[in-house]
Amino acid sequence: MLVVFIGPPGAGKGTQSFRLARQLGVPQLSTGDLFRREIQQGSDTGRLAAEFIDRGKLVPDSIVMEMVSHALASPEFRQGCLFDGFPRTLVQAASLDSMLQGQGTPLDVALELAVDRDELTRRMLARATREHRSDDTPETIRERFDVYYRQTTPLLKYYREQGLLSSVDGLGTPDEVFERILACMSLQSKR
Ligand code: AP5
Ligand code: MG
Repeated sequence: MLVVFIGPPGAGKGTQSFRLARQLGVPQLSTGDLFRREIQQGSDTGRLAAEFIDRGKLVPDSIVMEMVSHALASPEFRQGCLFDGFPRTLVQAASLDSMLQGQGTPLDVALELAVDRDELTRRMLARATREHRSDDTPETIRERFDVYYRQTTPLLKYYREQGLLSSVDGLGTPDEVFERILACMSLQSKR
């Protein structure tokens, strides 16, 4: 199973892909989490990525693709992958397509989580009081929204035209959103 989660910052991509990963027994791959790990480890990739992440900008496609193709080579991804926050540009989407084509395993679904901006801001500012994420400041959150609408929303048309896009209302409790995701993928809850 290969699923792409698309949604603005704070939409619940991490929360819901984690749940779906547990449900399906397929690992999730969050490029944001991978970059934060690189930053924590003080690697060259981490240092480079931090310059973009801390300003709410996207990390350049070449760096993202190198990191993703390296991660996907790991055996744990043989049964599939739930992509959280990747791809985020048309260049990344096309690269992913050609990678998957090479393996003969096309994407199953692109899942959009739709949430309004006021709720997204509330969620991220609430998170900022609990954990420290360098990009959860009011100014950087605004920039992340702008970047999402400018650079990532074109992916919705890209996947719609391939007949792969499903949109799910991301408002409500995490349980409610998860039930909608399962329903739209015609899956039964294991709970
Ligand atoms: P990334 O880590 O992907 O961050 P993001 O897209 O900005 O999204 P978030 O992780 O903030 O939100 P989410 O949708 O995962 O929601 P979550 O479940 O956490 O990327 C960070 C940066 O890395 C980017 O800005 C970019 O610089 C770089 N980057 C990453 N990938 C890249 C790529 N492919 N290309 C280039 N650059 C890349 O939920 C948010 C909060 O709300 C949490 O506190 C959660 O507990 C809460 N919550 C979740 N669901 C609900 C609900 N239903 N109701 C109430 N609260 C909820
Ligand atoms: Mg996330």
